[in-house]
Amino acid sequence: MAQQVEVVRKVLSRGYNISPEALAFLLERNLEELDSLLDSVPDKAVIELEDLKEALKRIKKRAERRLYETGEDVGGVRIIKSPTNLGVKGSSDEFIELMRRRFQFLKSLLVKKSGVDPIPISNLLNSTSRNGDRVLVVGMILEKRVLRDFSIRIVIDDESGSIPVIFKKGSRYWDKADKIPVDSVIAIKGTFINGRLYADSFRIPDLNGELVEPGSASGKVALISDIHMGSRYFNEQAFERFVRWLNSKYAKDVKFLVICGDLVDGIGVYPNQEEELKIVDVYKQFQLASSFLERIPRDVKVIYIPGNHEPVRQAEPQPVVPEEYLDHLLEVRPDLIALPNPAMIGIGDVRILLYHGRSLNAVFKHIPGLQPIRPETVVEAMRWILRLRHLAPIYGEHPIAPESEDWLLIDQVPHVLHVGHIHVYGVGEYNGVKIVNSGTFENETPYIKSLGIEVTVGKAPILDLKSREVEVKDFSS
Ligand SMILES: [Fe+2]
Ligand SMILES: [Fe+2]
Repeated sequence: MAQQVEVVRKVLSRGYNISPEALAFLLERNLEELDSLLDSVPDKAVIELEDLKEALKRIKKRAERRLYETGEDVGGVRIIKSPTNLGVKGSSDEFIELMRRRFQFLKSLLVKKSGVDPIPISNLLNSTSRNGDRVLVVGMILEKRVLRDFSIRIVIDDESGSIPVIFKKGSRYWDKADKIPVDSVIAIKGTFINGRLYADSFRIPDLNGELVEPGSASGKVALISDIHMGSRYFNEQAFERFVRWLNSKYAKDVKFLVICGDLVDGIGVYPNQEEELKIVDVYKQFQLASSFLERIPRDVKVIYIPGNHEPVRQAEPQPVVPEEYLDHLLEVRPDLIALPNPAMIGIGDVRILLYHGRSLNAVFKHIPGLQPIRPETVVEAMRWILRLRHLAPIYGEHPIAPESEDWLLIDQVPHVLHVGHIHVYGVGEYNGVKIVNSGTFENETPYIKSLGIEVTVGKAPILDLKSREVEVKDFSS
């Protein structure tokens, strides 16, 4: 009875009249379903059973379109990796388990490359006969500091225990060790003396020789991100030029468009952001985005992942943008492929790893030699992500959800790594992997300026799938 009253109340509050058959149909549904059902019925005087059935079909279809499964092929785009079953309690046990899984995977890569089994740290520490031995250990860097004599002291940790490791100033690997940030998993060869390891060489997971040249793929992919619609600083003219170019004969080979997060500016992303907003309603920001999306040529497949400005869970991996916002985009592009952040897609045989790039802030902060932020250093920062085989290699600088799988690990090496977020474009390569940062369509904001970043506005990298060459098109003027 209570349910019946609630259903009638909801229907009436929206000003609908409803036929008895339609009411009976609604009473069979659960209350959560009711709102989206009523959102989807046509605007007419009396809602009939048929209207509700049609609406339900539409909703189901939309839901199917959104939740792409790994392995699925959607109009020439294969979904290789799409984080699913997201939802955690955030307990410390879950975090410990996440770090353990990360350690185990990266350790297995290192063991494979070294061809030697490492000694568990506790075995080393507990044996009296090991003093003076040369050994191999694998651990995750817990802490790192430079000593008064400029030697580097790190503490590494495996499943069994932890040990201090010293890289003497002037030793062959000192410079390299200086660059390795905390939380990296590292295999160290050195001499064990009185409870410490004096390192003479080390290895990080890295990638070399693992990438198989892709077979066939053709067409071009426009890679963009950080458009920030709704911001006062959104460079609408530059984006307008980009959309016109996509519609021109010069872009007829462009068959895919990837939007790698921060499509809208969102609200409340950082303190006083509202002062930088032109559109303070996030729905209206999505409406503006859909007005542009509508004008992207129909034969261009659009792929979209969220960034830290989208109204969705901030902890990575981020789920797909919720449907209440996405609906604005789906209305004009029902074939839009909305995926979580990160995600990996395959076009032809080319694998493209998409990640918004929030971890770049920590990479720039913790790895020496990457400042100032310029196209060259953006590429170098992204090389570090590949070398460390993790999209967020330094833990604790932005929220990570301890999911039952570490979706940020780079287990399958991509042919192309596409990242945004830093608002400075960069194109380069690392051991066969094309590296692309897509810059931004937002002019310098006071916030970005305070970070000392010189933004590159209105540049769109265009990837040729066949040659894997990237041409950076400039729409800034
Ligand atoms: Fe951004
Ligand atoms: Fe961002």
